[in-house]
Amino acid sequence: MNYNEEKWMTVEGVELLQEIGIKRGQVVLDFGCGTGYYTIPTAFVVGRSGRVYALDKDGDALDELMEKARKFGLSNIAPVKTSGELKTNLESNFFDVILLYDVLHHYYFNREERERLLKEIHRVSGEGGSPISVSKTHESN
Ligand SMILES: C[S@@+](CC[C@H](N)C(=O)[O-])C[C@H]1O[C@@H](n2cnc3c(N)ncnc32)[C@H](O)[C@@H]1O
Repeated sequence: MNYNEEKWMTVEGVELLQEIGIKRGQVVLDFGCGTGYYTIPTAFVVGRSGRVYALDKDGDALDELMEKARKFGLSNIAPVKTSGELKTNLESNFFDVILLYDVLHHYYFNREERERLLKEIHRVSGEGGSPISVSKTHESN
């Protein structure tokens, strides 16, 4: 991990996620987490009393993410490997916040799949839960 990535994970990303309203103690789902670009700073924000569920269909990306979590001493990330199905085994009304960073776009999902994914996101969101979807490349973050 280079200096810039480490600074993002521990400082800049933490500030951004706090600014968008993520709080200590919350339970967050990072759907399509990849290698943890948002998962790791989210885990710092929610702290030991919170939890981040890192879901992806890419097992190698999840392994890389968990390696980073170990390096940072984070024990509040739960990896969730799926086969890409849009109906998950996650509990209903469970999450305070759901992140969909750089996921909810036509490269991965056609219109009908996006609708099904949003229904699933709604099912697992707690009361007042807020899905946050941003389609940006990392370079422009
Ligand atoms: C462009 S990457 C974004 C990763 C991360 N959110 C970020 O911003 O760095 C999109 C991720 O979504 C995952 N993904 C795409 N479709 C998925 C599906 N149906 N179920 C689970 N993960 C999916 C991909 O494996 C990939 O890791």
